[in-house]
Amino acid sequence: MRIRLESEDGALSPILGPLDTPGLAPGSRLHALVKNCLVRRNPIVKGAGVSGVYWPAEYFGLNHSSLFRSLNGDQQGAILGQCSHQLLQEAYYVEKSGSQFTAKMSLLAGTTEERMLFSLIAADEAAHLYSVRSFLTQEPAAHQELPFLKLLADIIENSSRMTLVFVVQVVLEGWGITHYRGLLERCCDPDLKAVLQEILNDEYKHHGSGVVLLSEGQLSAREKHEITETMVRFLEMVAVGPTGVVQVVEQNCQGLGTEARKALYEDLRSEETTREKLDLLKKLMAQPGVLDIVEALDKKGCFEPRLN
Ligand SMILES: [Fe+2]
Ligand SMILES: [Fe+2]
Repeated sequence: MRIRLESEDGALSPILGPLDTPGLAPGSRLHALVKNCLVRRNPIVKGAGVSGVYWPAEYFGLNHSSLFRSLNGDQQGAILGQCSHQLLQEAYYVEKSGSQFTAKMSLLAGTTEERMLFSLIAADEAAHLYSVRSFLTQEPAAHQELPFLKLLADIIENSSRMTLVFVVQVVLEGWGITHYRGLLERCCDPDLKAVLQEILNDEYKHHGSGVVLLSEGQLSAREKHEITETMVRFLEMVAVGPTGVVQVVEQNCQGLGTEARKALYEDLRSEETTREKLDLLKKLMAQPGVLDIVEALDKKGCFEPRLN
């Protein structure tokens, strides 16, 4: 996969290296160099003796599930560990995508200040990635297997500058603020809590800078079309509800029948929480100059939950 940069005639050409870079082998001296560069930022990493369960049943709404409550402690622990891994894996790829996003935005920047801004944000994202990675207790799945991350990689690779400002900085980093705040409030590991607080502080700045760039920029008709298409795909994924948690429960119970799955979605209050997420996205999208897009998506029913 290659990041593409837009030339003056609107054509896209591959310029940067691959988005899905592998990690270096543990013996590489580059690890120590990266660590030394990050020392000034005092990054927080995982302490000893962590079980891999970073969030309790309440975070996932599983405390309301009669099925979950009927399982023994080991089964509940396995489900919470896998749900925690899903969240960390997502954060890992989001932070990794942040490094790719800022690299592309630095090259696309039209002013010195904008290029400095994205270089500084790039350093934040590298520090977030360094910290989050230390909490993973197993290898993350390939990002192509994770629909949201695959979409995010596709957006970063193919979208033009102002589309990226709107979709990534204004909408997704704005969404990230609420998401990371929720993770922070319920997290049961003090070291990870400290990392989440750092990330949250930075994401406020990243989102805020996107709002400023959007207000001082101009969206072309092509970019508005690009934004509409992208948001339709993203909203579709949110509208289907907490499928990740349901999948984990299903795997640990050797499958669920139609009725049991329906009851689990209801116990998780899926309709209510999904509606809250879609409402938040609609609010984040409702920026001056973009209201026509929000209206068009509303007419298509994109802000309505579509649970299975
Ligand atoms: Fe970040
Ligand atoms: Fe960010």
